[in-house]
Amino acid sequence: MRIDILSLFPNMFQATLGESIIGKAQDNGFLDINVTDFRQYTTDKHNHVDDAPFGGGAGMLLQAQPIFDAMAAVEEQTKGQYSKGRVILMDPAGRKFDQAYAKELAQEDHLTFICGHYEGYDERIRQLVTDEASLGDYVLTGGELAAMVMIDATVRFVPGVLGNMSSPMGDSFSNGLLEYPQYTRPADFRGMKVPEVLTSGNHQKIKEWRMRESLRRTLHRRPDLLENAKLSREQQIMLEDIKLDEDPTVPD
Ligand SMILES: C[S@@+](CC[C@H](N)C(=O)[O-])C[C@H]1O[C@@H](n2cnc3c(N)ncnc32)[C@H](O)[C@@H]1O
Repeated sequence: MRIDILSLFPNMFQATLGESIIGKAQDNGFLDINVTDFRQYTTDKHNHVDDAPFGGGAGMLLQAQPIFDAMAAVEEQTKGQYSKGRVILMDPAGRKFDQAYAKELAQEDHLTFICGHYEGYDERIRQLVTDEASLGDYVLTGGELAAMVMIDATVRFVPGVLGNMSSPMGDSFSNGLLEYPQYTRPADFRGMKVPEVLTSGNHQKIKEWRMRESLRRTLHRRPDLLENAKLSREQQIMLEDIKLDEDPTVPD
């Protein structure tokens, strides 16, 4: 997958995207991440990329010209090798990012993120994009952190990035539920014992326990997720059983 990022602060991406799993995925050729400083494309003689809003008001807006020209340069660089893919404008007014959105973006071969700053964008910049995305209902100083979070969550679904493709599928939210509790050695840590079933070697029982705990944790912590989760008949029966057994207001 190729990822382009248009930002006024390219150095912000180095530490996050150059290290660990994402850094390795780039070294191994699964990801090709390119950051473009769109200030390079301004035609303003003082290198400005922003200006005051027409009609007045506080703050400055990013102008259309540098971003249109930076996008044209990305299109030129990727022509014939990658599709245009999805062009995502980071914007608190956009579609809220979640695991399903990450999976959807991971199907593309090319993503371009446009990171805003200051008070926002000249409205005409929206003509360049396929998506407007928000990290959540709060306002950041710029789109960089939001883009990095989206990229991190998305590339976990790109084949080869994690090495073991079963892991993102078992993660919280991937099947509409929270993940079950997990343990590693030792089986008894200062008197806190691992549930016996996990050391029993009975794979069917372990599978059932994990399913039950996943449902139980979701019921206790995020009952809203259960409203949209597509549960199998077996899961529905298990959930009813948990509800009869337990008081969901008691934290697990
Ligand atoms: C200070 S914000 C501008 C906020 C804008 N005046 C508004 O009220 O919607 C500057 C930039 O940060 C980015 N940004 C801020 N909050 C964000 C969020 N929750 N999700 C995604 N991007 C965000 C966007 O790129 C935005 O253009």
